[in-house]
Amino acid sequence: MTTTAAVNPTQQRTAEVVADIFGVINERLVRHSVTYPEYQAAKAWLIKVGEAGEWPLLLDVFFEHTIEKLASERRQGSSGCIEGPYYVPGAPELSSPATLPQRPDEPGDVLVFTGTVRDLDGNPLPGSVVDIWQADALGYYSQFHPDPPQWNLRANVTTGADGRFEITTVVPAPYEIPKEGPTGQLIRAAGWHHWRPAHLHMMVRAQGCRTLTSQLFFAGGEYVDEDIASAVKPELTLELAHLGDGRYAAEYDFTLDPA
Ligand code: BEZ
Ligand code: FE
Repeated sequence: MTTTAAVNPTQQRTAEVVADIFGVINERLVRHSVTYPEYQAAKAWLIKVGEAGEWPLLLDVFFEHTIEKLASERRQGSSGCIEGPYYVPGAPELSSPATLPQRPDEPGDVLVFTGTVRDLDGNPLPGSVVDIWQADALGYYSQFHPDPPQWNLRANVTTGADGRFEITTVVPAPYEIPKEGPTGQLIRAAGWHHWRPAHLHMMVRAQGCRTLTSQLFFAGGEYVDEDIASAVKPELTLELAHLGDGRYAAEYDFTLDPA
């Protein structure tokens, strides 16, 4: 590694972190006696990741969980979780109680998701926003699959005067990392499975508070204990209750840190 003296703190941090990471990679290349054909295959695969536009997918599957856990250590309120590659800003703005935009024949079981947004002192935060997005009951995200309409199962839901929200949606399916692209090919080549457990995504915002990016999972759901993206936390796992009329209910209260 070159050792030209870094001249400012950003350069110093870049040099330290990058030199360390590259050093670890070089050590591991030695440990595994990586051959020229393996190096050339890896190089061709990395080029394909870029050509396929899969850098966000690959990084969020294998590395975002580490960065997120570090960020969560600096929080006192609700646990965060990875954002993943499928957030789209600017979803329709709705007021609680709200039904997420969906097709007239939206497949899947109805889910009524409720809760309250509060600050660290337990005060409800009226007018806070739950920006929610999810896969549909076939595991497809709108804007990342040709079937669902543009804002399907995405919305910014404003809480009521008591900080409460009630969001009617559908129970999402587990999500399968696309198999045909370079990320999916790597997963197959290593003999791993391609699945994330079913989950809801949200960014929760309120004036004067730090935005919380999180996900909620369903207790006992497939892949909850073996998420390919290593992002499940026990405290983010919800019990799904039967409402008795064919619908399901899940409840979670968000606590936001001060900004
Ligand atoms: C997701 O949350 O859907 C996701 C996260 C990381 C990689 C791919 C998908
Ligand atoms: Fe997701």
